[in-house]
Amino acid sequence: MSKLDGKRAIVTGAGNGIGLAVSRAFAEQGADVLAVDLDEDDLQAAFAEADRVSTLVADVSADDAPATIVDAAAAQLGGVDILVNNAGIVIAGAFETLTDEQFDTIMGVNVRAMFRISRAAVPHLKERGRGRIINLGSIMSDLAGPELSIYGTSKHAVAGLTKGMAVDLGRYGITVNYLQPGSIVTKMSEPFMDDPEFKAYWESKAPIGRLGQPDEVAAAAVFLASEEAQFVSGVGLNVDGGAIVQF
Ligand SMILES: NC(=O)c1ccc[n+]([C@@H]2O[C@H](COP(=O)([O-])OP(=O)(O)OC[C@H]3O[C@@H](n4cnc5c(N)ncnc54)[C@H](O)[C@@H]3O)[C@@H](O)[C@H]2O)c1
Repeated sequence: MSKLDGKRAIVTGAGNGIGLAVSRAFAEQGADVLAVDLDEDDLQAAFAEADRVSTLVADVSADDAPATIVDAAAAQLGGVDILVNNAGIVIAGAFETLTDEQFDTIMGVNVRAMFRISRAAVPHLKERGRGRIINLGSIMSDLAGPELSIYGTSKHAVAGLTKGMAVDLGRYGITVNYLQPGSIVTKMSEPFMDDPEFKAYWESKAPIGRLGQPDEVAAAAVFLASEEAQFVSGVGLNVDGGAIVQF
């Protein structure tokens, strides 16, 4: 028996990095997955040969995204037991140079879409009394980083939104948690890692002494999605090699 046998999961931002790893790990554990991403080519490259994964091209921040995504999952998977709000973007810049548009864009994808898609999924998540919402926060849900003030704001908001949803949805047996990855090797982190000083900083900030891999975040998502985690709700789980606790 695998950990997610019979479960039906939506994973957003599934074409790359952490979302791709989560989708694969969920399918390996027996779940049927709807993998959602903006980029059709990436979805194809990732899942053309995959068992148990169907794909949907959608922008999570679009007005009609919640209905489109949740309806597709209901039609293709027969319902929704697990929602992973993983799609996220980063825009870096010195605080005084950041624009209103950049603020709205980041908050629209990283926070507003999470709120709206979660709300649309609740009627399905309630059905079996064991729903799961897993949101992608970050080490930046607790900390601030240079030139990342909007991104950090969005990830602090993920923490607040997760806790609020955990409180309101617990009565339906739905748990809501957020993952707090440290520095993980993906397309998102690649441009930052081109700076050797930045890379060395994050390698040494983690007591484990290296950057993380998407599979290591996916393993934590499998735990939060599993039956074993039924009494874990409203928490942020660090997957950062210990970076956050080291002064
Ligand atoms: N990589 C890290 O070091 C790190 C650390 C902490 C938190 N995170 C968080 O983990 C999540 C995944 O990050 P990643 O590193 O795998 O990123 P990534 O850039 O490698 O992949 C993100 C995926 O999301 C998709 N996406 C972006 N905007 C979208 C939208 N509007 N609609 C649908 N899909 C969209 C992209 O096309 C891409 O395939 C993000 O929320 C990110 O903030 C990443």
